[in-house]
Amino acid sequence: MAILFKDGCFKLDTKNTTYSFKVAKFGYILHGYYGKTVSDIDLGYTYPDLPRSYVASVPEDTSMLFRINDAPQEYSAYGIADFRTTALRIKHFDGSRAADLRYFSHEIIDGVVAVKELPHATQNGFSDIETLKVVLKDSATDVFVNMYYTVFEQTDVIARFVEIENKGDNSVFVEKAASLQLDFNDSDYDFITLTGAWAKERHVGRRPLVMGTQGYSVHTGTTSHQYSTFFALCDKNADENMGGAYGFHLVYSGNHKTEIEVDQFGSARVLAGINDEGFSWEVKSGDKFVTPEAFMTYSNNGLGQMSRNLHEFIIRHIFREKWHNVRRPLLINNWEATYFDFNYEKLVSLAETAGKLGIELLVMDDGWFGKREDDKTSLGDWIANTEKLPGGLERLAKGVNEKGVKFGIWMEPEMISEDSDLYRAHPDWAISIPGRAKSIGRNQYVLDITRDEVKQYVIDAISNVIGGANIEYLKWDMNRYLTEAYSLSLGKDNQGEFYHRYVLAVYDILDVIINKFPNLLIEHCSGGGGRFDTGMLYYSPQIWTSDDTDAHERIEVQRGTSMGFPVTCMGSHVSAVPNHQTGRVTPLNTRGVVAYSGTFGYELDITALTDEEREEISKQCEFYKENYWLINCGDYYRLNYVPGEFSAWCFASKDKKEILIFGVQLQAGANDANRFIKIPAAEKSMRYVDDSTNQTYFGDTLNNIGLCMPYQFGERTSFICHLRAIEE
Ligand code: GLA
Repeated sequence: MAILFKDGCFKLDTKNTTYSFKVAKFGYILHGYYGKTVSDIDLGYTYPDLPRSYVASVPEDTSMLFRINDAPQEYSAYGIADFRTTALRIKHFDGSRAADLRYFSHEIIDGVVAVKELPHATQNGFSDIETLKVVLKDSATDVFVNMYYTVFEQTDVIARFVEIENKGDNSVFVEKAASLQLDFNDSDYDFITLTGAWAKERHVGRRPLVMGTQGYSVHTGTTSHQYSTFFALCDKNADENMGGAYGFHLVYSGNHKTEIEVDQFGSARVLAGINDEGFSWEVKSGDKFVTPEAFMTYSNNGLGQMSRNLHEFIIRHIFREKWHNVRRPLLINNWEATYFDFNYEKLVSLAETAGKLGIELLVMDDGWFGKREDDKTSLGDWIANTEKLPGGLERLAKGVNEKGVKFGIWMEPEMISEDSDLYRAHPDWAISIPGRAKSIGRNQYVLDITRDEVKQYVIDAISNVIGGANIEYLKWDMNRYLTEAYSLSLGKDNQGEFYHRYVLAVYDILDVIINKFPNLLIEHCSGGGGRFDTGMLYYSPQIWTSDDTDAHERIEVQRGTSMGFPVTCMGSHVSAVPNHQTGRVTPLNTRGVVAYSGTFGYELDITALTDEEREEISKQCEFYKENYWLINCGDYYRLNYVPGEFSAWCFASKDKKEILIFGVQLQAGANDANRFIKIPAAEKSMRYVDDSTNQTYFGDTLNNIGLCMPYQFGERTSFICHLRAIEE
């Protein structure tokens, strides 16, 4: 039983954690605890009646000895006496903004309760999953708040979402509704973020919490390159292997907000959800508003275990079951190989070489449709350019398939170029505010897919492309942010719904496409990694991590991304040198070592390789295929890391009998010492042998002393060490 209810107390247990809250005085629900498993059910002693502050107010039917501003709340609301940043803000019919949420009822449900219309964690055949629904009611109106907690016992994860249900006679407007609130009694934590920019996504930031509000607020319409829907809190002394660490994810691909407020008493409140800036959603009488889902984990064994919990959870419960046991293809993408300059012959020759090297899929990137020779035209005109590709997509797919290689294609379905037949026919389909100039990004506008006819056009366009030839893979790109958020289909009081309706429309289109083409593998992309979130991963298990393909820089991007996301979803390719983004020259074997830790592929002109390079690439393809399951489904550990100097990481099989270690020396120093790489993944009582040196070690030797990596000469050198348990 993962969920217990006794004497007004709720206790949600996973394998290693407890989450607890209680119906306290006057029906307020107070949060008790989240962390390593504890046995007590009633944790009410953690919030004694203490008149803490002189300047406090309380609802008049309560007591000055019970101040909701001073106690940890389970789900807080704006407008009454909690003066902190709150989870919920509702505007009522009379223009007032307040909600006084008290316990109404609860029920325990077997399995997962799916969030409607939004991506969410799915049972996918796994057991030990229960959901708790707790209903709160505003004391003055018929607005109800349904809080859902799904407990995934095996993976140490709890998923949450909230419904705002209007049982009153008049509409209400939800102006803010966090998916997750977590109040702590203290604030002795570091806040871990994944921040960045285009071609520099998801670098790890870590700073102590301070009094006041910290966090970020995204209003780019997509998840953005700058901030992530993942964040973490950890003990100040936590590292990869020790200390407490909380990891949080919002399953959403649009404007989002993370707020952590440390109040006057040093208590921290964590909130995550849709960004409330400009947001307003009308809930008509009898309707509900449903927030995106959020999920969280706690690890008592440092950030490494926190990440592994999230990795396992995402692979099991966010990815569709369909992808669980399928080896995804090793690919070549022609973007950095040719950019817009390609034709039928070039692509077929890439496919021919690919087939010989062991590459399994050719992805034709941007430039195949309309009159697109650069990024200025044709988005929306999804018809093959037969000057470049005589015979169209059907002939090309056939030509590629004849070389023993699958065929995939790039589209940017949400976009429209001014210079396109689509724009000439429907200029009003581009998102804009009437009477105001439109902002342009990468020479293009965004289609208003919140309108049914536009959404249908996009669905038809994708269906015609995918259904018109043997296309087994779609790279779904989205290369600009949303501006002038406004739709002709929404009334003046409902424009605040636009951004969220846009995200719902993206999900809706994806849903239709994957149901229509269940075997189609989609790679999500947004100017590299600008829409890298678990919302997108629900529709397909891989995302292009960054437009920066430089192996040296990718180490930091991929290491950062691994904090919250499994390696198996990170698109990572070996590209040409000098690298197109940085001019840096990195040896081919090191480019391989970095790219192996992801959905491996190539992005360079493989028809122009030397014999030596050809041989090395064949070996890389073989290596990746041999180690596919270990890399993609094994447990991932971040090992030694000195930014800009050295990085190591490893994958261990679930039974710990196989460990694959990778390391890259980014910078060399004269007369440097040997490096020792401790391997916490090794099982202390097992004995391992190194495949290439035959050196043997006990697991505890690897845990405590580690591998010795002799001094290496040269920059961006790399090594691979494969340890296998000796059967004794
Ligand atoms: C974006 C993507 C690239 C490539 C180009 C094509 O920048 O991230 O990988 O597909 O678009 O225009």
